Amino acid sequence: MDASSDALSSALLDWYDAHARDLPWRSPPGAPPPDPYRVWLSEVMLQQTTVAAVKAYFAEFTRRWPTVKALAAASDAEVMAAWAGLGYYARARNLLACAREVAAQGGTFPDTEEGLRALPGLGAYTAAAVAAIAFERRAVVVDANVERVVARLFALDAPLPGGRTEIREKVDAITPEARSGDFAQAMMDLGATVCTSRAPRCLLCPLSPHCRGRTTGEPERFPVKAPKKTKPARNGRAFWIEREVDGEGHVWLVRRPGKGMLGGMRALPDDGWSARADGSGEGPLAGPWESAGKVGHVFTHFSLSLNLSVYLGNQCDSLAQETGEWWPLDRIEDAGLPTLFAKAARLALAETGEEA
Ligand code: ADE
Repeated sequence: MDASSDALSSALLDWYDAHARDLPWRSPPGAPPPDPYRVWLSEVMLQQTTVAAVKAYFAEFTRRWPTVKALAAASDAEVMAAWAGLGYYARARNLLACAREVAAQGGTFPDTEEGLRALPGLGAYTAAAVAAIAFERRAVVVDANVERVVARLFALDAPLPGGRTEIREKVDAITPEARSGDFAQAMMDLGATVCTSRAPRCLLCPLSPHCRGRTTGEPERFPVKAPKKTKPARNGRAFWIEREVDGEGHVWLVRRPGKGMLGGMRALPDDGWSARADGSGEGPLAGPWESAGKVGHVFTHFSLSLNLSVYLGNQCDSLAQETGEWWPLDRIEDAGLPTLFAKAARLALAETGEEA
């Protein structure tokens, strides 16, 4: 590291010592690192999700499963239901696969980036973050916040995603040998609280004397993004089938196949919208169906408009017992429905005059 990189990382670490966010998966700046299990769990949860959204899930997971061995012993269904609402459900499946592998290895996480990378579902980012934060290894940790800070710091003109290689090289050049976990988290905090996307607060920034983006007068121009492709729109149909069982209202829920969109999650039956259905698909019963309206949901690669059809009645014998279950309406919140189907359930309950 050259002298200016040294000055830069020192300025950042001094700022972190005074301003680090107090987060439940962290140790205070300079303190011994936290439990690797908590670091790993938080990093998996934080991918594609905000700190604010993750906090409650992190608290609940660590309460129910305080160690990686405890998590490894949980059933798929329990973990998928506890994950419901966090999105990107492949992460939950990978989380369990990884926990089971670590448990099989004796319950201790590997302490190098390479060893971590070999675990199921652990990508380059997570391996680097856990190696740095939990094991104080020097590792190059680049998330979206870090990308933004570094693109500004060096006024990098190459648009993302192509510009990522250069960003990575720059992060490597400024990452110190010592305190690399604090350094990574300091970059994340700076990106989240000071070097924000829209209105960077350069007057508060410890790196402003080093920042070329600031001298351009338009730091918010960085990182330069390639023009966005608009997402394709898809249509689908989902089915709300409600009947009384032992005098109480119940709805028919299925479990989605393990692979594919929302894989392994409990759900309403549907017409296969995730496989490019056009929204005219048949329901699992003859009907008659009433339309309850539509719910919209935006996924990574497409946006979905889901028509919701409702059947209230008792002609349900054609539903094969092994394909689903009658779920009590007064416990619908506990079904672990992913957000798309939770929205559909709220709509159906509003339409049928039940309480949500
Ligand atoms: N985003 C991803 N990892 C994080 C961490 N360790 N602290 C704060 N924000 C994060």
